[in-house]
Amino acid sequence: MRRIAISVATSSLILSLAGCGVLGATGDSDDATPTKGNDITVGLLLPEKANTRYDKFDHPIFEKKVAALTRNQGTVQYANADASAPTQETQLQQMIDDKVDVIVLDAVDAHAIAGGVQKAKDAGIPVIAYDRLAEGPIDAYISFDNELVGEVQGRSLLEAIGSGADSSDKIVMMNGSPTDPNAKQFKQGALEELEGQVTVARSYDTKDWKPENAEANMAEAIKEIGADNIAAVYSANDGMAGGIIKALEDAGVTDLPPITGQDAELPAVQRIISGEQYMSVYKSYPQEAEAAAEMAVARVQGRDIQFDALTRDRVDSPTAKDIPSQLVPVIALTQENIEDTVIADDIFKASDICTAKYKDDCAALGLN
Ligand code: GAL
Repeated sequence: MRRIAISVATSSLILSLAGCGVLGATGDSDDATPTKGNDITVGLLLPEKANTRYDKFDHPIFEKKVAALTRNQGTVQYANADASAPTQETQLQQMIDDKVDVIVLDAVDAHAIAGGVQKAKDAGIPVIAYDRLAEGPIDAYISFDNELVGEVQGRSLLEAIGSGADSSDKIVMMNGSPTDPNAKQFKQGALEELEGQVTVARSYDTKDWKPENAEANMAEAIKEIGADNIAAVYSANDGMAGGIIKALEDAGVTDLPPITGQDAELPAVQRIISGEQYMSVYKSYPQEAEAAAEMAVARVQGRDIQFDALTRDRVDSPTAKDIPSQLVPVIALTQENIEDTVIADDIFKASDICTAKYKDDCAALGLN
């Protein structure tokens, strides 16, 4: 609750500053004495492709915002590491060699990339950690409230099991990649809700967040616990929920237990509509990516008041304390609020979701 209050306070401050023209939120850059003009290059390093959010939303939204903030003069140099930490290190080095003005980094491996972050700093290039808290001397951090993500997932799971929930009910926990610090926070948040309420019969960390790894782990869990004895499955994201459902179906399960997710990916939203997946966590990509673009441009142009207003939260990483941050709140996505979230925010159109296979389920929910 405390963290949400901080974020809300931050957003309203940003709104009021924007109203006074302090933030130059319209992209007007005449109201400051910039250390650099609009002709800047922003490096954007994203971690993977298996999860569609990065190429489909984070990257294009970020790029559009940088253009808007720089009167179309700023450019984004983009690289996606496809879940490989060494590839990301090479991509980061390339950006240092190319002398980009600032780097926005979503780490594949938050610990392993610390040396690269130090090299960027030594070259005078500020690094803003995006979504995942990279170690090393970063300038700032923007992410969602990741512990809240886990809490929302855990609470939803209990709600799905219903009033009959009992501490002997067995659940399987499918957590994210051990190199992603968010995965640890999702797990922590979820366990806060689940401990004492249900029994975590098996818990896995999933290499590279890969759906096929989650599928293999789920197949093992089914063998050991027995499909009929699994009351629910905690899945840290939607991609893995897909793998988990495959494993359950391969084991002959027709009546699926409640399964959680995260990211509001299109197949997951469709599964929520048909009842195969209980929930996802909706994270507003525009909010995160646009704030990151504002932070990067403000940092390069030396707009300190704007930069401070965008980073009023504070977090610690294993290597740095009191990092200026912005944590964006999240919400549970269930059958009840599809219209008010992904459709209202233009992430998907009802027609993207309600394809022939889902027409009847959509109609039953009043979506068309
Ligand atoms: C997390 C991110 C999630 C999800 C996951 C798998 O770090 O916060 O939104 O994308 O990685 O890629």
